[in-house]
Amino acid sequence: MVMVAVVGAGVNGLTCAVKIKEKYKDYDVVLISSEFTPNTTGDGSGGLWYPFICGETPDDLIRKWGNETYKYLHELYRLGEHGVSLLPVYSLYRTKEKFCKPIWSDIVYGYQVLDEQQLKDCSQLFSGEYGAGHTFLTFVLPAPRFLAYLQERFERANGKLLRAKITSLQDPVLEPFDVVVNCTGLGARWLVPDAEVVPVRGQITKVKAPWMNLVVIDEEGGNYIIPNSETCVLGGTHQSDYCTDVYAADTEFIMNGCKKMMPGFENAEVVKHWVGLRPVRYSIRLEPEERNGKLYIHNYGHGGSGFTLFWGCGDEVIKILQTHLDKNEQTQILSKL
Ligand SMILES: Cc1cc2nc3c(=O)[nH]c(=O)nc-3n(C[C@H](O)[C@H](O)[C@H](O)COP(=O)(O)OP(=O)(O)OC[C@H]3O[C@@H](n4cnc5c(N)ncnc54)[C@H](O)[C@@H]3O)c2cc1C
Ligand SMILES: *[C@@H]1O[C@H](CO)[C@@H](O)[C@H](O)[C@H]1NC(C)=O
Ligand SMILES: *[C@@H]1O[C@H](CO)[C@@H](O)[C@H](O)[C@H]1NC(C)=O
Ligand SMILES: *[C@@H]1O[C@H](CO)[C@@H](O)[C@H](O)[C@H]1NC(C)=O
Repeated sequence: MVMVAVVGAGVNGLTCAVKIKEKYKDYDVVLISSEFTPNTTGDGSGGLWYPFICGETPDDLIRKWGNETYKYLHELYRLGEHGVSLLPVYSLYRTKEKFCKPIWSDIVYGYQVLDEQQLKDCSQLFSGEYGAGHTFLTFVLPAPRFLAYLQERFERANGKLLRAKITSLQDPVLEPFDVVVNCTGLGARWLVPDAEVVPVRGQITKVKAPWMNLVVIDEEGGNYIIPNSETCVLGGTHQSDYCTDVYAADTEFIMNGCKKMMPGFENAEVVKHWVGLRPVRYSIRLEPEERNGKLYIHNYGHGGSGFTLFWGCGDEVIKILQTHLDKNEQTQILSKL
């Protein structure tokens, strides 16, 4: 029997585990991770489809993986599943110089660069001085609920979960596996080791605000408001820092900034303050590597775009695996079947 280990139970590892187990039903697929939802990076994320901090990952890959993920989220939205919502976004810049039309403008619905009048209206509505920006429709999901769904779906398909921290390539836990999928996010920094993966610290506050039904991002000021079907995520920070403690100064920045944009947050009930470390790399690493008779498939470094690219990246992992299986049809892996 072919044995596959997927390491890392964040949105990327869960997606790969589900896709592999559902496609190759008779393979033994084990999801190995030190943390599971609700304790992964994605659990406090905005869950917004929006390419953000993905380094210099080639434009055509962002477009391809982003489009596939957007289409998948559309399908969930159409079926009314997992609390996915479709919301308008206002992404605003203080100055014209900082704004340029994104490479994904033809992927989202209703894309519009804001004109002078709309900018004036936005400046008034969100109490800022906005000189440029755009609006479009995108999908938002309640991240912990969605991650729990993926994990249940994997277990329903007879996938196995194993709580363990992998320390190296030689880790005895990996010994029996033919294929290892590396979805460890920031963990890849120590595991691979890959010093190119760095943390970009994000602190947010989750509040109850069921009346809020649009996403507002002050791109230069740093504050953002991302409502989902269960809570509303107020942000946020982007710091080069490993510390996952809540900083009081950041809480103040988040609450004051978001209340200024939307005074209604004054009375919103706070659910929690939370910090996550975005696994940022100069480029997402999604590629195979053959070593010691095993196939490794790396899928890490998604930065601030894990929920924007996960489905497309998962498809790419499946393609790599299938190519490898085809290539090795006569060899070891398949002879074990
Ligand atoms: C404040 C904030 C807001 C965000 N908002 C958005 C947003 O709105 N939209 C969006 O698209 N993205 C957003 N992101 C980014 C998104 O959360 C990440 O890109 C995504 O969570 C990365 O997922 P991952 O599965 O690659 O890694 P992770 O979720 O970090 O998962 C890695 C997993 O690997 C495990 N692991 C690591 N090392 C080891 C090891 N050695 N052995 C065993 N297990 C190991 C960990 O326990 C964990 O389970 C946000 C991030 C932050 C911090
Ligand atoms: C998440 O972390 C908390 C606090 O460390 C812990 O009590 C809980 O068991 C963890 N949950 C899972 C699913 O690992
Ligand atoms: C996105 O995917 C759809 C359907 O798969 C396809 O028709 C469309 O051309 C793609 N768009 C882009 C910009 O890649
Ligand atoms: C990830 O890949 C690297 C090789 O680049 C390897 O050293 C490491 O052990 C792999 N991680 C896992 C969990 O297999």
